[in-house]
Amino acid sequence: MSSNGPIKITGEEEIAVCMCMQSNHWPFCDASHHTLAGSGDLGPKLVTLDPNKTYYLCGCYRTKNKPFCDGSHEK
Ligand code: FES
Repeated sequence: MSSNGPIKITGEEEIAVCMCMQSNHWPFCDASHHTLAGSGDLGPKLVTLDPNKTYYLCGCYRTKNKPFCDGSHEK
């Protein structure tokens, strides 16, 4: 999958999803939110996953179902 298409993950029980849109590893938090002045509530959102399932995470920032791919990269 390309850098703009979905990111396939499996075997994960929990991920920290970036909510500040500053991460260099979107959709994962890379702690960049600590560099934002007044970032207050902009820390990561913890999302629980089933490690037995495969998930496709958004790689293009355009999903309306963050952090999951909703096909918006194809539009
Ligand atoms: S880098 Fe965006 S929430 Fe942590």
